[in-house]
Amino acid sequence: MLDAGCGTGDLIFDCSARQEAKGIKFIGLDLSLPMMRVASGKVGHSPSFIQASCGRIPLASGSVNVVMSAFMLRNVRKIMPEFLREILRVLKPGGKAFLLDMTVPSSLWLKIPHGIYLNAALPLIGRAVFGGRWAGNYLKDTIQGFWPPKEFSQILQDAGFRGASFNTLTGGMAALHICKK
Ligand SMILES: C[S@@+](CC[C@H](N)C(=O)[O-])C[C@H]1O[C@@H](n2cnc3c(N)ncnc32)[C@H](O)[C@@H]1O
Repeated sequence: MLDAGCGTGDLIFDCSARQEAKGIKFIGLDLSLPMMRVASGKVGHSPSFIQASCGRIPLASGSVNVVMSAFMLRNVRKIMPEFLREILRVLKPGGKAFLLDMTVPSSLWLKIPHGIYLNAALPLIGRAVFGGRWAGNYLKDTIQGFWPPKEFSQILQDAGFRGASFNTLTGGMAALHICKK
């Protein structure tokens, strides 16, 4: 299983701790070496880590059963065609992709408080917690600038994935896309 944009490896460690994951080989890929250093320092499992861009994955074609990704999609919006082409390439025929990220709720009743949260509350909390390290409007801009789940599902289909579907989570504040090669 490949975790694209694995960061500090939480998804790999959660998945690999499950009974059903016995014998499965996990690979974490991320641009950031410091993030993966933290990931590889977590004891108990032995995934491989690769420093690379999701736009150019240094793995053989058809070598991966599952690609998963959490909260990374927004970061590769500008290179989405390359990312989708690459994960389709490395997946085995019949292999699945599970892609999770934050999104804007479609219901007007939630859209308004969600907008207030992103525009007013989040910057206050961010600056209070992270001070100068808070990345300004990046989170808000990338959430609001991403395709709504229905549109992104169509993008997956157009890129060549089969059976693209999605589940919205937390009142539509996140979406999990599932599709097959
Ligand atoms: C918000 S973090 C999510 C990390 C992890 N998946 C998690 O759920 O904790 C996004 C990650 O995507 C990585 N990233 C951003 N652009 C990338 C790219 N083009 N290729 C690979 N990784 C990328 C970042 O370095 C960061 O670790």
